[in-house]
Amino acid sequence: MAHTTTGVREAVHLLPQTNQLRALHTVIRDRHADRDQFVRTSGRIIRQLVEAGLELLPFEPYDVQTPVGRTYHGLRIGPPFCGVAIARAGESMEAGLRSVVPAVRIGKILIQRDPATKQPHLHYAKLPTDIAERHVLLLDPMLATGGTALAAIGVLTGRGVPEDRIVMINLLSAPEGIAAVRERNPGVRMVTSSVEERLNDNAYMLPGIGDFGDRWFGTD
Ligand code: URA
Repeated sequence: MAHTTTGVREAVHLLPQTNQLRALHTVIRDRHADRDQFVRTSGRIIRQLVEAGLELLPFEPYDVQTPVGRTYHGLRIGPPFCGVAIARAGESMEAGLRSVVPAVRIGKILIQRDPATKQPHLHYAKLPTDIAERHVLLLDPMLATGGTALAAIGVLTGRGVPEDRIVMINLLSAPEGIAAVRERNPGVRMVTSSVEERLNDNAYMLPGIGDFGDRWFGTD
């Protein structure tokens, strides 16, 4: 079950800051962690984030019969939902989502900053055709300035997804990125395992983990 942070209570769902989570953060923040340690440990946190994100979807009553002949008045997720990964780093979260929901549909958005204008530019979007009927878990491990997140949210709302049906799943979040999303799309909810101190001059989070994509894909 996710906690909420003060001030942005409705929007930001921070994973409980347990010793176990802190130990996982310690591994991925360590500059000496090798790729295998980084990938396996980030993957463990990502699964927790996915579970917390699913908790934010609407549930409906669902009864089952137990093997000993009783009815269990249970729950299941009501409306259809899908994942949308923001390439490249968001692809790292697809396996975590699929490990929890094997049949989940996963769309993809590629946004890169235009070197001339410095503005995020949409290169590619492949989304389920019925995305307007779905809730969306928007996957991106790093919410830094929020520029890419806002562009991706814009793609989704442009395809008819109401912002209150979008849940961002971020491993680490900068206050600057959270504020940007809150300001432009106050209905979007965010699940994160850490709200960092701030961004440095190069838009890396502090204390941070460095470049997530490079460490995950081994391109550093
Ligand atoms: N992207 C990263 O990979 N790391 C940061 O700290 C910020 C953006």
